[in-house]
Amino acid sequence: MSSDSISIQPISSSTKSVAKKKVHIETWGCQMNVADSERMLSLLEANNYELTNSGPDNADLILLNTCHIREKARHKVLSRLGVLDQLKAQKPGLKIAVTGCVAQADGKKLVELAPQIDVLIGPGKIDELPRLLRERDITGESAVATGFDRHNEDIHQKVDDHQTLGDEPMIHIPSVTGKYEVNRFVNIIQGCNNFCTFCVVPFTRGREISRSMTEILQEVRYMVSQGAKEITLLGQNVNSYGLDLIGCDDVPEDGGPFVELLKAVAETPGVERLRFTTSNPHDFTKPLADLFASHPKLGLYMHLPVQAGHDRTLERMKRKVTIDQYMQRIEWLRASAPNIAISTDLIVGFPGETEEEFEATLRLLEKVRYSFVYAFKYSSRKGTAAARFLDQVSEDEKDRRLAKLNELQDKITLEHVLAAIGSVKDVLFIYNSKKDPRIWVGKTLDYRTVRVCSEANLAGKTLPVKLTSGNKIALIGELVQ
Ligand code: SAH
Ligand code: SF4
Ligand code: F3S
Repeated sequence: MSSDSISIQPISSSTKSVAKKKVHIETWGCQMNVADSERMLSLLEANNYELTNSGPDNADLILLNTCHIREKARHKVLSRLGVLDQLKAQKPGLKIAVTGCVAQADGKKLVELAPQIDVLIGPGKIDELPRLLRERDITGESAVATGFDRHNEDIHQKVDDHQTLGDEPMIHIPSVTGKYEVNRFVNIIQGCNNFCTFCVVPFTRGREISRSMTEILQEVRYMVSQGAKEITLLGQNVNSYGLDLIGCDDVPEDGGPFVELLKAVAETPGVERLRFTTSNPHDFTKPLADLFASHPKLGLYMHLPVQAGHDRTLERMKRKVTIDQYMQRIEWLRASAPNIAISTDLIVGFPGETEEEFEATLRLLEKVRYSFVYAFKYSSRKGTAAARFLDQVSEDEKDRRLAKLNELQDKITLEHVLAAIGSVKDVLFIYNSKKDPRIWVGKTLDYRTVRVCSEANLAGKTLPVKLTSGNKIALIGELVQ
């Protein structure tokens, strides 16, 4: 299609005369939920809504995009719904939509429990948000859509009045935070086929479905045209990308479609940095590790969740790799990029975890020397295999193990921070503090958070910074003149 053969109208033009409704969005959970919130906002914008940043009080629609990973995450949603119920009593026109993983897991039961919910949508049905809002208006009943379809159409085909210029989408994909225009997320694969025995994700996100490479590259080009400098490719098993497209169960020896996609995104003009998360050690190949040496735009940072340090625990978790295999991946990475920062996820107090098994996790921390870790107390999730295991660990014991693990890792994290002080690193600046706009926050290539003080607007700029001090959360630095 030639670019001058169509007249391109902004999507909002057809509804110019109608006052826009305001949507307030709260996003919990992982980055995939952030990307989903952006997708939903995009659909809402095409249906006469605009994002309000002035809180729920002024909104016509409140959207809670929820997380189900641990019981605590689910509780937050229930208590938030209680508060919003009071707001709704004062403002009868207000609509409440619950989306995300709690919506999928609880389904209609949640609407029975909380009838103030107008619309409930699982992550596999978010494209139906505008339709369900209309359905709610017409029927006066709560509208619900959960489940997963095999097809995975791109958002750009879903939005009414969509037109394209060449292959660039004309639909705005907004940033929900308004804060992260510089680094944007692109979902490349939905769902998970692994069924680790502790995890709800295969139930809340369905089986793996990859988007086509054409769609992904189109979205990346769009993000770059909107000012993005750093792209993070997302999936619960990001490195099994494309296996469903090529009909394979295991990643081919050459690294398969994921390695191919990373190379294509890295070569996209305007992409200055490229990251991906979350990688599963089972599908992690040597060609993937080798990319860190050959592709300098790849962030020198790898999040590789291990969950536990003992093979017996890993087997009960059904993680499909041993500690030796996991360590081989770490060696591949460090051979390819000696200074790569590595982080992980850990669960303490998994059913049946003995003191000996827990101590193996502590030894793993000392051996790998992660830059940082995300450690969680095991939370029993209904429907998962581990919820039925008999030898559950007491809460007190989980607390003790978590504190001991965090104490050890804090020491290691601080040693990494101290080693970085005095060095000069390139920092990509992302946003500035609301309280003090002179405080700019950015990331090094190896994913450390750095703050500097500057009167100038640094958003989107990559500048050398001398690191002068820091703690386990962030480093402080000065711009090198
Ligand atoms: N797909 C990623 C993990 C996604 S969930 C992977 O396979 O590594 C993010 C993290 O939440 C997990 O890595 C795990 O550490 C934690 N998690 C998941 N289920 C949990 C549960 N039931 N209790 C405690 N932590 C859990
Ligand atoms: Fe959950 Fe395991 Fe899938 Fe990760 S790989 S999302 S932990 S089931
Ligand atoms: Fe939570 Fe769902 Fe992500 S359970 S971690 S929001 S996939």
